[in-house]
Order: sequence, then structure tokens, then C-alpha cells
Amino acid sequence: MDMAEPNNIVRVSGVIKDFSLGKNIVHVLKGIDLEIKTGEYVSIMGPSGSGKTTLFNMIGGLDKPTDGAVFIDEIDISQLDAYELAWLRCRKIGYIFQTFNIIQVMTALENVTLPMTFAGVPDEEAREKGMALLEVVGLEKRFQHRPFELSGGQQQRVAVARSLANDPAIILADEPTGNLDLATGEEIIKLLKMLSREKGVTIISATHDLKMLNVSDRVIWVSDGRVEKIERRDELSISLGQINEKWR
Ligand SMILES: Nc1ncnc2c1ncn2[C@@H]1O[C@H](COP(=O)(O)OP(=O)(O)OP(=O)(O)O)[C@@H](O)[C@H]1O
Ligand SMILES: [Mg+2]
Repeated sequence: MDMAEPNNIVRVSGVIKDFSLGKNIVHVLKGIDLEIKTGEYVSIMGPSGSGKTTLFNMIGGLDKPTDGAVFIDEIDISQLDAYELAWLRCRKIGYIFQTFNIIQVMTALENVTLPMTFAGVPDEEAREKGMALLEVVGLEKRFQHRPFELSGGQQQRVAVARSLANDPAIILADEPTGNLDLATGEEIIKLLKMLSREKGVTIISATHDLKMLNVSDRVIWVSDGRVEKIERRDELSISLGQINEKWR
């Protein structure tokens, strides 16, 4: 039996993920073990194609491992029924997708309030909170804009605001600063850090952004579908200025 610590909000145990592609099988995750504590800010670093987004999809209950298990609050999420899984995705986890996944025919505000509507929050309350969240990401003046009327960085910020809609315990952020300029990227990082420190939100972020490492409690280095090493911020083996090209 695994030695599970009681305050692990996320535990990934022996996760393997294979995809079949025609007659070939692609081995993407090759046995991932991770424990993440409540309120921790963890960055997952790894080269393109190493399996970060695939791992996020497993942790977020968006896809199922080929083998192994993901536990949220020590519950094996593969055992949840459709309603419980929907609840987990809607209320417990906020997702910031690498490709934003905001809805093109909806305005910025409608994108942010949609998860609240799914959660049964009354319209007026959802609207007020949606505006407050857009203000947090500096887009209150753009609330009526639809995605094609926003820049890439602004769309990213709508995705960040949306991820916060239902006060999630966990935020899964896949390259949340990937499309942002330096200043906006720093704002988003500050916001995530504040959520982790002041509200105890657990942040799990895939990133190539060195600014992100500075605020992380731990960095998980993933390479070719395996965890290569896990370091606390104070023991980072790289100086942030000279990260090896391999990890970019
Ligand atoms: N549905 C799928 N079918 C087949 N192969 C897939 C599928 N999804 C991902 N892969 C493969 O899995 C590998 C890991 O992909 P993943 O998106 O997890 O990488 P990543 O670490 O997030 O990369 P990046 O930094 O570029 O976002 C890639 O080689 C990709 O081609
Ligand atoms: Mg990815």
C-alpha cells in the first residue's frame, strides 16, 4: 500500500498513458508518481512533447490513464460516477488550457460566467463576480468583446478569470503565461501566487517561464514521460539565468 500523506490534495500513482495512433502505440506517460500538498504551488517543467498536457488531462479528470491512478483528496477519480466527476471538474478544479478553449461566440464576460451558470449561481451574482474577475485580470473594459476581438494575451487572461469562477481548490494551469508580455505575465503569476498563499489554492502549472520558478514551492522536471527530478525552490540546481536549452 502507498504511504499517503493526509494533506495530499493530489496524488498520482504509477500513471501510464499510451495512445494508439493507427497501428502504432505511443507511450506518452511511462509511470508517473507525484504527491502535491494542499496550497502548494508546483511548476512542471519539461521539453515540448514530454507529456505535461497529457498529465494535466489525467489529473483534471479529462482523460483516463492506461494504468495507475489519480487521487484527489485521496479519492481515486476513476471510481467517480459521471455526476461526481462533473462536480469535480466544475467546482473543485479550475482549468487554464494551453489553447485557452474560450468560446468564440461568447463575450469575455459570458465566458467567465459560464462555469458559474453550470454550477447554478444566479445570473446577477454570476455577472457581478464575472466583472470582478475580469477586473482582476485587467479586462473589465473589454467585457463585451468576443475572443476574435481580443489579443492572444487578453484571451489568455479571460481564460485565467474563467478558471477562478467557482473558487476552485486546485488550479491546473497549462502555460498560463505562454502568450503574455512580461508585465502581464508577471501579473498573472502574482495572482496565482496570491491565491495559493492567501486562499490556500493549490496551483499546478506547466511552464517554460523562468519567472514562474521563482514563486514555485517545488519544481517537477518531466522528461520523456517520466519525472526526472523534483526540487524545492531553495534547492534548484540551476540558476534561473542559465537554464539548459533542453528544458525550454
Ligand atoms: N491524443 C493523442 N494521440 C496520440 N499522441 C498524442 C495524443 N496526445 C498527445 N500525444 C503525444 O504525446 C506526447 C506528449 O504530448 P503533450 O501534449 O502531453 O506534451 P507537452 O509536454 O504538453 O508539450 P508542449 O510543451 O509542447 O505543450 C507528444 O509526443 C504527442 O504527440
Ligand atoms: Mg502542452
